[in-house]
Amino acid sequence: MPLPPALKQYLNIADLHHEARRRLPLPVYQYLERGSDDEYSLRNNTSAFDHYQLQPHALADVSRIDTRTRVFGCEIDWPVILAPTGMSRLFHPDGELAVARAAAQAGSLYCASTFSSTDLESIAAASQGPKMFQVYVVTDQQLNNQLIERARNAGYEAMCLTVDTVVGGNREAVARAGMSIPPALSLKSMLQFAARPRWVWSYLSRPKWDLANLSERIRPGRNGKRDMASYLGGLLERRLDWTHAERIIRQWNGPFAIKGIMSVADARRAREIGASAIFISNHGGRQLDCTPAPIELVAEIRAALGADIEIIVDGGIRRGTHILKALAMGANACSIGRPYLYGLAVAGQAGVEHALRLLRAELERDMTLSGCASIAAITADLVRDPAPRLRPIPTTREVSP
Ligand code: FNR
Ligand code: LAC
Repeated sequence: MPLPPALKQYLNIADLHHEARRRLPLPVYQYLERGSDDEYSLRNNTSAFDHYQLQPHALADVSRIDTRTRVFGCEIDWPVILAPTGMSRLFHPDGELAVARAAAQAGSLYCASTFSSTDLESIAAASQGPKMFQVYVVTDQQLNNQLIERARNAGYEAMCLTVDTVVGGNREAVARAGMSIPPALSLKSMLQFAARPRWVWSYLSRPKWDLANLSERIRPGRNGKRDMASYLGGLLERRLDWTHAERIIRQWNGPFAIKGIMSVADARRAREIGASAIFISNHGGRQLDCTPAPIELVAEIRAALGADIEIIVDGGIRRGTHILKALAMGANACSIGRPYLYGLAVAGQAGVEHALRLLRAELERDMTLSGCASIAAITADLVRDPAPRLRPIPTTREVSP
């Protein structure tokens, strides 16, 4: 498909970020962008990539670049999947449907969130591509069981369970901006919404939405809590533990990832209870602050677990070189959150497609320049750690075929 002329001016993810910021009301932008506490994790997620250098393989035949790979039993055209993000209709009225269609168009895999603003059946029906459903365990056990069976019946190929969000993170910038769900005009936020009339118009001209997967049983505002953190936190099951996770994996009985693993010990335990994959993730720096960046853990976890678990890395990925580094260190694929949401905020489905097109073009060029014609050619020796801070990067890359 030809590139819509208006999108040509955005040359990279940072350009789309800048434009998304110009378009969204401040409370909505803060919800999209900001992290918890002092935002160390948020900043470090991207800046940690700068610590590693790339050493290209010279004189490799790179006349054909093949980015195809397999994750969760699905073939995807390139090793990037779209991370689950809640309430996408905040950013564009087409919300999750636009994201799911763009992912399919880009040959990628979309992971729909329990906290989607579109129901999981409609998302599945909109997408011809591979898709995965992300489970949050809520306090209503019947609802949990229903969600898993609904995902199966709707044709989701895989499932992931997010384990880093038993309460909302302390996102002070979001609270300060007066963000509530559904977005409501408070005295505090009124001027900020008034400054983005285009967003307000498109928001008000479409039907109201809610947490569509849960709304038959739970409605925002019913318990009187309207600020974002306490509302979402109030829904989640804090007693969630390994036994519970194991039960969900058994119930699903298919490709399954635990999302939010941040140590070798927990990665081992995830495999022991039957997970076929993990997302090394700190939730984009939105939950616990002061964690390592996921990229800093990849080589260590791959070396400890060997080849028989799929590793997805997310947090801070904004460039093709970031994807290349993550794969060289042992990841099977990367996942991205904010980068596609910037595209969504700028131009709906076309904007998400543009964000994916930019990242894929960067990855293909970076593979060409580094002498890697296929995903299998992206080996550990591509990455150099000039000043090993804790321990050296292992020199063998072990990834399942
Ligand atoms: C998220 N994330 C997330 N994760 C999850 O498991 N379920 C969810 O509903 C959400 N919701 C959500 C909303 C928004 C606005 C963002 C930005 C993120 C986390 C997401 O899946 C992923 O881990 C991070 O976004 C990765 O970091 P980057 O790519 O945004 O830096
Ligand atoms: C967030 C929740 C929805 O990160 O996971 O905002």
